[in-house]
Amino acid sequence: MKGIILHGGHGTRLRPLTHTGPKQLLPIANKPMSQYALEDFREAGITDIGIIIGDVYPEKVKEYYGNGENFGVKISYIYQDKPKGISHAIKLCKEFVGNDRFVVYLGDNILRKGLIDYKNNFESSSNDAMILLCKVDDPSRFGIAEIDSESKKIKKIIEKPSEPKSDLAVIGVYFLTPKIFSIIDKLKPSARGELEITEALQLLMEENNSLQYETVTGWWKDTGTPEDILHANQLVLDSIGKENQFVIDKGSTVKGNTVIGKETEISSNSSIQGPSIIGANCRIGPNVTLGPNVSVGDNSILENCKIENSIIMANCEISADVHLSNSIIANGSKIEANNDQTKHELLLGERSQLKI
Ligand code: TTP
Repeated sequence: MKGIILHGGHGTRLRPLTHTGPKQLLPIANKPMSQYALEDFREAGITDIGIIIGDVYPEKVKEYYGNGENFGVKISYIYQDKPKGISHAIKLCKEFVGNDRFVVYLGDNILRKGLIDYKNNFESSSNDAMILLCKVDDPSRFGIAEIDSESKKIKKIIEKPSEPKSDLAVIGVYFLTPKIFSIIDKLKPSARGELEITEALQLLMEENNSLQYETVTGWWKDTGTPEDILHANQLVLDSIGKENQFVIDKGSTVKGNTVIGKETEISSNSSIQGPSIIGANCRIGPNVTLGPNVSVGDNSILENCKIENSIIMANCEISADVHLSNSIIANGSKIEANNDQTKHELLLGERSQLKI
């Protein structure tokens, strides 16, 4: 079985974070979100992986994953010129897939329990496709499946219904066979100009092919918005272990589950509350209160601040006496104290967001 990770799209809902790279490389608990998909594939024994790259800094994806060697997999890159839909991206993989069965994993989805059980069930069946369903609170945001509870068969799949008849979302992991390619060939672009995966699955059923479903146990997260990213960060940190290689001053404390990287120093009067992760070579303190649910990337320097439920990426410097909550601070950002307390001095990129 082969694996495909969708790493294209524009990530407009995540601007300005996606002005400098694809959203799937944004870190969740200090790891690019698409790496969770790649590791799920590897864990399930799927090591021949195609990555669809789009027109938002595709070279950054290649630079990070390379040929896959460092991640224990083999990677082929497939280029999609514009985000013309998930079905369009799948169609581009026809040659890569050949006659194999395959799994498509959206690079901005994270699935708590991985793929192994689902993959085994699909492999041992003769079904033409399998989808995973998960109960959601806001069904009109997702592709939704209506199920016949007696026969346990899917009746219908509809993209973002305005009046949903079910709360079961079709999540971004699709088990497919090459039969899907002739189905996609028959699709027309939807109202938003995309070849929709939900329409391909619906048509697959209408043409009397067998579509199996499984309900996801454990959590699933689609990380399309800043709120989703912070929630995913929290969910991943919830199961983080303890792995600490730091140097700590006497007056400081570290409590709960924390992963703290090599060469990181925690200086006076600081407290770290897990679950949290701090990268390597960071300086935390003096006077820092950090956590719970905070991820800090490598080489960041934090002083005199209080931070919870936030992501501070690599190479950041925060030295102002600020309290940050539910914040995402991208690579290389600085928040410094201003001697004149009556004024703020800001240098913000396009579409930045501040609440002050
Ligand atoms: P979306 O979240 O639907 O689209 P997007 O990433 O462009 O984000 P936004 O709506 O904020 O602009 O895409 C779901 C996943 O599929 C995501 O990982 C990107 C990927 N994708 C492609 O690779 N190619 C495509 O043509 C589309 C539409 C999405």
